[in-house]
Amino acid sequence: MIVNKIYVWDLPTRLFHWALVALVAFQWLSGELEDEWLKFHLLGGYAILALLAFRLLWGFVGGEYARFGNFLRGMGPTLEYARALRANTAPRYLGHNPLGGWMIAALLATLALQGFTGLFASDDVMTSGPLRYWVSDQIAEVMTELHEGSFNVLLTLAVAHVASILAHRLFKGEDLVWPMLTGYKDSDEASKKQ
Ligand code: HEM
Repeated sequence: MIVNKIYVWDLPTRLFHWALVALVAFQWLSGELEDEWLKFHLLGGYAILALLAFRLLWGFVGGEYARFGNFLRGMGPTLEYARALRANTAPRYLGHNPLGGWMIAALLATLALQGFTGLFASDDVMTSGPLRYWVSDQIAEVMTELHEGSFNVLLTLAVAHVASILAHRLFKGEDLVWPMLTGYKDSDEASKKQ
């Protein structure tokens, strides 16, 4: 079988990914520590929102495999891939596979919800999001609860994300982490280009 190195994850996508992982970890820690740490939590939140804005743009103008059009597929191909996965006949994708693509979309959407609600959230003591006083106390309370609740959704998705990467390693013998560091994947003739 012919094996070539293919440049899959461009530098901005890799920087986006690892900066996001570091910031999500920091947001969790600073959110738990509360008090004066919330000042830095706010800064981390702005950084995540800026990263998400960049990723939204990059999803349209970025490298081939970073584009939303490359990995957000319709219901038909996604179900077909899920069935193939169960039958152990799923093709290998160089970019995100159809299920993985939707997982990425869910992660990005939950992060956006997390960042958006944070703008209106408040700890009722000394730190409030910058838009807290644009809304009523009642709305700020709902936003604060959503901000706390959606973090559990984010955590669940992140655990599933890492578990599926581990499953790829264990059951398919494919390391996905190294390519997210270097950009390159091995391509064999059977791999799906998209
Ligand atoms: C140490 C933990 C993590 C590892 C090892 C990891 C690894 C990876 C890998 C290998 C990919 C590419 C998947 C593929 O080949 O299809 C990926 C994509 C992605 N991961 Fe993670 N990940 C981690 C944590 C997270 C966390 C905590 C988040 C967000 C909360 C996250 C969000 C994403 C996103 C949004 C993408 C898509 C990248 C893009 O297309 O822009 N990851 N991750």
